[in-house]
Amino acid sequence: MTGNSTGTEILGVGIIGAGPVTQAIHMPTLSRLGDLFAVRHIMDADPSVAESVAARAGARHSSSVEELLADPEVDVVAICSPHRFHAEQVIAACRAGRKAVLCEKPFAMNAAEAAGILVAAKDTGVPVVVGAMHAFDPAWLAAESHWGTLPETAHTIRSTIVLPPNSRFEDAATEVLARPGLTAPDYSDPAAVRSALHGGIMGLAIHDLPLVRRFVPHFEDLEILQARHVRPFGYLVSLRAAGRSIELRAAMGNTWKPAWTFEAFSDDAALRVDFSPSYVQAGSAAATLSTANERRSFGPYGHNGYEGEWRELARLAGGGAPRRGTESLIDDLAFALAIAEPSAEAATAELMGADA
Ligand SMILES: NC(=O)c1ccc[n+]([C@@H]2O[C@H](COP(=O)([O-])OP(=O)(O)OC[C@H]3O[C@@H](n4cnc5c(N)ncnc54)[C@H](O)[C@@H]3O)[C@@H](O)[C@H]2O)c1
Repeated sequence: MTGNSTGTEILGVGIIGAGPVTQAIHMPTLSRLGDLFAVRHIMDADPSVAESVAARAGARHSSSVEELLADPEVDVVAICSPHRFHAEQVIAACRAGRKAVLCEKPFAMNAAEAAGILVAAKDTGVPVVVGAMHAFDPAWLAAESHWGTLPETAHTIRSTIVLPPNSRFEDAATEVLARPGLTAPDYSDPAAVRSALHGGIMGLAIHDLPLVRRFVPHFEDLEILQARHVRPFGYLVSLRAAGRSIELRAAMGNTWKPAWTFEAFSDDAALRVDFSPSYVQAGSAAATLSTANERRSFGPYGHNGYEGEWRELARLAGGGAPRRGTESLIDDLAFALAIAEPSAEAATAELMGADA
């Protein structure tokens, strides 16, 4: 750790996994937050990717998690590897006694992994942030501080995502190294539909599920009403929980105009938040709270949820009290799993029924 011009400590960052998200999202964000962070160590399973990405930041590189976690200049750890490694790497970073851990979404892929994270976080006291950036967006936070009773009174909640492929945004942000090739799945195979639906909820809808949960803190009665896969990549899921009607819709294809909207409606008020697509670093979302008599707008502000999540990590690393404990993050994951698994089953059953 070194000091900045205001005498505050600059936190050394170690990043595990240096794919497009590290290259196009976190490195540009950290370069704007040089008064708080300095990238010290980049680890990737592919040593050549680790070396090239580290060179961009003048950081050390390795292909070993243990080596990164043993680096004395690493104060905080960001986990940006593929989903299946998140839980074990969060646990290792907590056990290594780092000051704070940022884990890309999803936190974990099943309840057993989530339980392991909870034990490690409690044993070690290391604070963890999940990179669900919309929850840190200043327009979302401004709307939250003005929406009054909307979480108790909302009856309908809707997340709508229409996006071109991620590569369009990644390429606008940086020159991505070693992007894996994509092959189109065979959607006549029920296993491919199952995997696409599950992946859509755990990989894409999951950005907004912590926002939905703000309106649905308890979800024991969650019921999937309808779940369909949308080609080439997307989903239509309709569910009920805690007396609320929830719609999750996504379509990724060759659209020129991206749209990413979160809405909540009660009998006499409505919230609408327009987020920019992932990877875009052009300020915050814009939010509107409306009633019959009033319309209040929040944002866009100059910084986005990516900066927000890193600022929160710095606050926690400095000993600040967590705004949301690890239990609450685990509940977000349980909510996502409670939607992903039955939705994947329902979409597959429908396909098999159509084939019968
Ligand atoms: N917050 C966002 O806006 C956003 C957007 C897209 C994806 N994501 C999340 O970010 C994470 C990374 O996404 P990506 O597109 O860069 O993934 P990716 O799979 O393309 O790249 C991940 C990198 O991790 C490396 N890797 C593989 N196994 C590893 C291991 N065991 N340990 C360390 N590194 C390993 C790979 O070589 C690759 O360079 C994913 O969890 C994804 O869900 C977040």
